[in-house]
Parts: sequence; C-alpha cells; structure tokens
Amino acid sequence: MHKSNTCGELRREHIGQTVKLAGWVNRRRDHGGLIFIDLRDRWGISQIVSDPEAATAAHETLNKVRNEYVIQVIGEVRGRPEGQSNDNIATGEIEVVATEVNILNASKTPPFEINEDAKVDEKVRLTYRYLDLRRERMRRNLVMRSQVTTYIRNFLADEGFIEVETPILFKTTPEGARDYLVPSRVHPGKFYALPQSPQQLKQLLMVAGVEKYFQIARCFRDEDQRGDRQPEFTQLDMEMSFVERDDVIDLLERLMTSMIEEVAPEKTIMQKPWPRISYDEAMDKFGEDRPDLRFEMHLKDVTAICRDTGFKVFDGAPMVKGINAEGCGATYSRKQIDQLTDVVKRHGAKGLAWLRVDEDGYKSSFAKFLTDEKIAEMVAALDGKPGDLLLFIADKAEIANDVLARLRKRFGVELGLADPNVLACCWVIDFPMFMWNEDETRWDPSHHLFTSPMPDSIPLLDTDPGAAVGSQYDMCINGYETAGGSIRIHDRELQEKVFKLIGLEDDVAQERFGHMLDAFEYGTPPHGGIAPGIDRLVMLLAGEPNIREVIAFPKSQQASDLMAGAPSVVEDHQLVELHV
Ligand code: AMO
Ligand code: AMP
Repeated sequence: MHKSNTCGELRREHIGQTVKLAGWVNRRRDHGGLIFIDLRDRWGISQIVSDPEAATAAHETLNKVRNEYVIQVIGEVRGRPEGQSNDNIATGEIEVVATEVNILNASKTPPFEINEDAKVDEKVRLTYRYLDLRRERMRRNLVMRSQVTTYIRNFLADEGFIEVETPILFKTTPEGARDYLVPSRVHPGKFYALPQSPQQLKQLLMVAGVEKYFQIARCFRDEDQRGDRQPEFTQLDMEMSFVERDDVIDLLERLMTSMIEEVAPEKTIMQKPWPRISYDEAMDKFGEDRPDLRFEMHLKDVTAICRDTGFKVFDGAPMVKGINAEGCGATYSRKQIDQLTDVVKRHGAKGLAWLRVDEDGYKSSFAKFLTDEKIAEMVAALDGKPGDLLLFIADKAEIANDVLARLRKRFGVELGLADPNVLACCWVIDFPMFMWNEDETRWDPSHHLFTSPMPDSIPLLDTDPGAAVGSQYDMCINGYETAGGSIRIHDRELQEKVFKLIGLEDDVAQERFGHMLDAFEYGTPPHGGIAPGIDRLVMLLAGEPNIREVIAFPKSQQASDLMAGAPSVVEDHQLVELHV
C-alpha cells in the first residue's frame, strides 16, 4: 500500500509513530517559511507540515504542490503546539512532519472548489462528476447510501430472505411509464424491454418456491424527469409468500424504523407505530395520496356551504375546497395574492378565491357575491381567525385537490411548518383498485396489473369496479411516495378478469403475460410484496432536495449523462446489424 494509515484516523496515541499517508491536497498554506497541507482522503483530513531545515527536499516538493495534487507523505506524527488544536476535525490534535513527499499525480486547477460547499452550476458538477464526488457533502451521501443498502441486506438476511438477481434484458413489465427498448441482433425486428421493475420475475420466484426474496434492483422508466425521478433508479425490491397486507407493512416498518435510527440518528420519526391513513382520507385532508404529515393545514370541503349561493363560480362547480394559510392575511400583499393566482392557473385552476380575516370584518375577492351568513359559515369551516388568509378553489375534485395540495406544501415551507429534521413516515392504504381513464374510456389499474382486490371487493369487479378497493399500500415520508406494494393476484381466472377490465384482449394478454397466467396454474402460493425507492429514501435521510444528489452518476433533467455524453450517436453499421 502507498499508505499505512488513513487521513482520518490519526490521534494523540499515534504521536511519535512514523506514518505513510496518501491522498489529495485539500488546501495549502504558506506560513512564513513553513508549509501546511491539509491532506484529504475518504476518511478525513490530516495536517502535514514541512520542516525546511531537517527535510529540505520534502519542503521543496510541498512548495510545488497545488490543490488536488495526489501526493504521498512519509513523516512523524507529533502533537500540535498548545492552543493550536483544531476542534473541527477529528485529527485536530496532531500533525505529520513530512520527511519525504512524493507527487503521485499532479492536478490542473479544478473547474470549481473541491474544499468548500459553494453553489456550483449543476451542469458543471455533472460534467466533472468525478471531481464533484470528491466534495465532502457528496462523499457523505455516497457513504450513507452504502450504509443504507448494507443495513438492508443484513436485516433481510437475518429475516430469512435471499437476494436473487433478475434479468435486465426482458419483456415489458409495465408500471405506468414508457419502456426503454433494446433491439435484438439475433431476432430481426424484435426487441427486449428493460424492466420498469422486476415485478413479474419476483412473482415467478414465488411460484418457484423462494418464499422470501429481495434484490437491490435497477429499474428503467422512460418518463419525464423531476427532482424525485430518474430514468434509471434503484429499488429495494421484495416479495413474500403466504403473507397478508399487514405482514408486509409490519416487516417494512420494522426494517425502515431501525435503519433510519441507525443511519440517520439525528432525524426524528414523527410517530411510532407509523400512522395508517386511507386513500380517501388522504385525498380529503391533503389533496394527494402522498401527504406530508409534518403539519396539519388540512383542506376543507365547503361544497355544501357553497350550494345555492347565487355565485356562479361556486354554485356550478363540482367541488369547492379551501385551506387556511394561518397568519398570511396579515403578511400577504395583494401583489403576492395575484402571484398565487398565477401559480394556481398554471396548474389548471380557473381562479383563486381569497378571503382575509380582519379584526373587524374581512377583505375578499368574492365576498360581495355571498351573504354574510354564508361567509361566516365558510370562515368557521376553515377555523379562520383575524390575520388568516383563506384560499378557495372551485373545480373538478381532481384539480381542486391537486392545486390546494400544492398551495399547502408551499405554505408549509414558507411558514416553516415542515421541520427538516422530522421524518413523518406513514402508510396510505385502501386505494381504489381502478381509476377511470377518460381519454381511453376504460379502467386503469391504480397500482399495477397484478394487484389483488381486497377480498370483499372481488364481487365488485363484476358489478361496480370503480368501488373496488385494492390491496395496495404506499409508504410515504414528508410528501414523497417512498414505496409501493400490494398483495397480488395468484389465480388465473381473477387475473384474466382484471386484464379484461383494463381493456387487454385475451390474445394480447396471452401474448404479453401468458407466462404469468400459465404459472398461476402450477401451484402458486398467495404472495405480496413492496418496493421502496432507495434513491428517494437516501435523499430524505441525507436532507437533500433531489435524488441526483444521492446517485453517483445521475442523468441530468434532460435525461443525459453530461460527463460521458450519453445518449450518443452510434455507427451506421451497428444500426444495420440491429436491423434498425
Ligand atoms: P412503484 O412503481 O410504486 O412500484 O415503484 C416503487 C417505488 O420506486 C420509486 N420510484 C422511483 N424513484 C426514482 N425515479 C423514478 N422514476 C421512480 N419511479 C418509482 C418510488 C416508488 O414508491 N413493482 C412495484 C412494487 C411492488 O408492487 O412491489 C413498483 O415498481 O419510491
Ligand atoms: P369573477 O366572477 O370571475 O370575477 O370571479 C370572482 C372571484 O372568484 C375572483 O377572485 C376569481 O379569481 C375567483 N374565481 C374565479 N374562478 C374561480 C374558481 N374556479 N375557483 C376559485 N376561485 C375562482
């Protein structure tokens, strides 16, 4: 080894020892003839000091090195003089007096400072990702991610799970996104699809008798990028046989709780055991199925109050719902309210009705259209107090909920209600089995094709599919969907019925999923599973604003790799070979 110790491990007890360190020059200071180097490796920083009298050559070399040079230093550990310890670093009580210094590789001046957490254009960071990853924050995120997967692997091994790898070149496994396709050279005109998840394969592993499966699995989805979405991402994919919904939920809750407490002890889990809320309650109170439970600011349905008011905006709307931005009446200007109106319109609302509660009455965009009694009822429904700002959306439920959920999140941040050190973990359960797809005039599965209805909803598939409740469960943390899973169908007839309801003709279903249907006829155990998104989990544990910060080599928001330049043009002969 080029090193005998890491740059993070030297302490007082090493004083007097000769050590060999190697790493990167984090910072170089010239102090009246003495040269100080902060030498950095993955484990920390050690201070190196030159001795121009006793080790002239080493001093000369240290004089030449610049930031990010890779050097090897041989020298003696000594205690720092009285009063010169540095409490900010773990090795702050010692320094290494260099007797020999070797430059292992020089460095150009990096395009940004590695030794500070300054804001750098993300394009530049991603282009020079190998430099970006040297920075302390990124190093910490990589380490944390590894701790998370290591913890998960150990925990699940103890619980009797085995890790099984499944193919990347496979057949379409729809999870609601577009597939990435790979043309086959051997079979002209045919394509592999990269898995959107290992869903079918993990179910087939249950047919195969594995009983407890997991995999840290890469998934591929060609969908629009967002802060919490990447075209390829990682799931902790799991499946178990002979389980019911609560078995899966309980196991995951134990795993996640102990993992969070081990890896991110500075975070507080808001409530244990985690609250479980139904899909209907989540939509009603939060306007979305991935609620941020760190604060209340519940949405209030005032549709009934608004009936027969004579105000056409409210009267004619399928739903009128509002939130109370407490205290914002006093602080929000008309201009800011107009800006909010622009925001809601961008998300499909027709307008924003507002009411400011004052000590001696109110100011409002719509009060003149309503009687005093109606206004009083609306204010009471939202628990409006002087100084509050009440905001209402009149629209289809879908839009009213979506827009108010956005406003709620915005105010949560603005009013400091969402404590960044708290993880509000919860389960959302009792999802509708299907959502009506107006464009295609058919039912879409609200989770995926293989999710079983809850047992007492099975008869509803024939009579009222819209009322059927699915066995799906989602794990949410602070407004992010961090896992989704369900108990599966394990019966051919029921699976075929669901395929029919979502508009898959028999021959298409057989062509696409025949292997699943056939497998269900050879002794399939009841089974279910779940898949937490590792990227989103680590993002939340690390307190990062998006998942790119916790992925070593992420794609940009335009789905490209800026460092290597992918996707890229390929040679004509490659396309010919692939029959494209
Ligand atoms: P689902 O599609 O809900 O379920 O995905 C599970 C979890 O994966 C994460 N996730 C993503 N993370 C980053 N980028 C993306 N593009 C992305 N898409 C999803 C989320 C999500 O909760 N096979 C089922 C699981 C099952 O039923 O067992 C599935 O994939 O955290
Ligand atoms: P109008 O009658 O169009 O002047 O609207 C009166 C008030 O209602 C204004 O403050 C509008 O912004 C608001 N408004 C209009 N449409 C909606 C809607 N769909 N939801 C909530 N407020 C609305």
